[in-house]
Amino acid sequence: MPEAVLRFEDKEIALPTEVGSEGEIAVDIGRLRAETGLITLDRGFANTAETRSAVSYIDGEKGILRYRGYPIEQLADRCSFLEVAYLLQYGELPTKAELEAYEESITRHTLLREDMKHLFEAFPHDAHPMQILASATSALATYYPDALDPLDEEAIDISSRRLIAKVPTMVAWSYKYRMGQPYVYPRNDLEYSSRFLHMMFSVPSEEYVPNEVIARALNVLFILHADHGQNCSASAVRLVGSGQANIFSSIAAGIHALSGPLHGGANQAVLEMLEDIVASGGDVSKTVARAKDKNDPFRLMGFGHRVYKNFDPRAQLIKKIAEDVLGQLGRHDPLLDVAMELEQVALSDDYFIERRLYPNVDFYSGIIYRAMGFPTDMFTVLFAIGRLPGWLSQWREQATDPKAMIFRPRQVYVGANARDVTPIDQRG
Ligand code: ACO
Repeated sequence: MPEAVLRFEDKEIALPTEVGSEGEIAVDIGRLRAETGLITLDRGFANTAETRSAVSYIDGEKGILRYRGYPIEQLADRCSFLEVAYLLQYGELPTKAELEAYEESITRHTLLREDMKHLFEAFPHDAHPMQILASATSALATYYPDALDPLDEEAIDISSRRLIAKVPTMVAWSYKYRMGQPYVYPRNDLEYSSRFLHMMFSVPSEEYVPNEVIARALNVLFILHADHGQNCSASAVRLVGSGQANIFSSIAAGIHALSGPLHGGANQAVLEMLEDIVASGGDVSKTVARAKDKNDPFRLMGFGHRVYKNFDPRAQLIKKIAEDVLGQLGRHDPLLDVAMELEQVALSDDYFIERRLYPNVDFYSGIIYRAMGFPTDMFTVLFAIGRLPGWLSQWREQATDPKAMIFRPRQVYVGANARDVTPIDQRG
């Protein structure tokens, strides 16, 4: 590959380039500071690859997302969530026997230690589910001290399986605690999504049969959220893991990162925005005007993406699922009408066209979750359940990479220059 040349004052340095399997070229600046004394400034890492990764591929211009080479459209259509979780972590789709063994091992770990119930009960009833999930995920490390070594591949494997098995149970139990209902134990004869729905919505006083339309849609939603390159939460997982913190602490960091409204928290924010529009008479033009007003920090939630600049392939699939689920459940939701109108207005408005702002994954997902019966503040934990295999795969990729380094960015210091401390009685 040709080198890139950087010239600065009287110095010139040739920087090697590296090409990815889809032809993306990266300039390797690893020797830049040592040879020139220069550092780079790249806010939000918008141009910086921290790592090589083989987990997922995104082409933001063409609207492509693939996991380990497979288009998400095919995975969503042909696979179960656990099949995709296996693919992301181990690199290949499982055979039938491998999938059965994997599913069996996940069902062996779905229970929580009984004393973890006290943890849920220590939170206020109105605590946000993301904070509870992050805390409970951190707490898991205290129950499995023998499986925390980040350099032990067997420990990584068992901890990853425990997390995939237990996170839905933790989410459902935090909901049961909030509702004042008895905790429902995982039924291992059900598949992953149905088991989760059963833990969430069944009560001992009556029989609960998970709805197949809802379970299948949830399975697809989990798949569509399962990985997305070096996004904010995956980078948080890698950053914490780079210091060789244990996998539970690293995943808890990812959950915290996901909770922000500019990241996974946007699905909750979208629904609240749509509810506000309906409550104030359904006029979308005021909301669009606010989003365009540079004196107003408000943004159209569920619009825009750092990488996708034409369309988000997940959003297109999710819009279709929203229509199907509402249609099949025979429900009409005025929020879906408002969302479609908002999308139409925004997509024909120069402000959004010029800035290439399109609906993202979060724009329609909340409408589906609402139709399924989930409260609004649980939408982001559903995203977390889906994203978990991606976080685990990213963490594992880093933990097993002999070239991985602790994350330690530089900074351009712009603070005060050296000065002496004035005694307190002389300051004024
Ligand atoms: N509404 C109104 N204006 C917007 C929006 C929006 N949703 N998104 C970006 N813009 C504008 C910005 O004000 C800026 O305008 P300017 O050039 O006149 O200053 C321009 O578009 C570029 O915006 P940036 O913030 O620089 O774009 P960036 O790539 O850094 O941000 C982000 C991406 C954070 C997703 C942003 O589009 C946003 O805040 N969207 C709303 C929140 C959201 O939906 N987040 C979910 C993202 S998907 C995910 O994490 C799963």
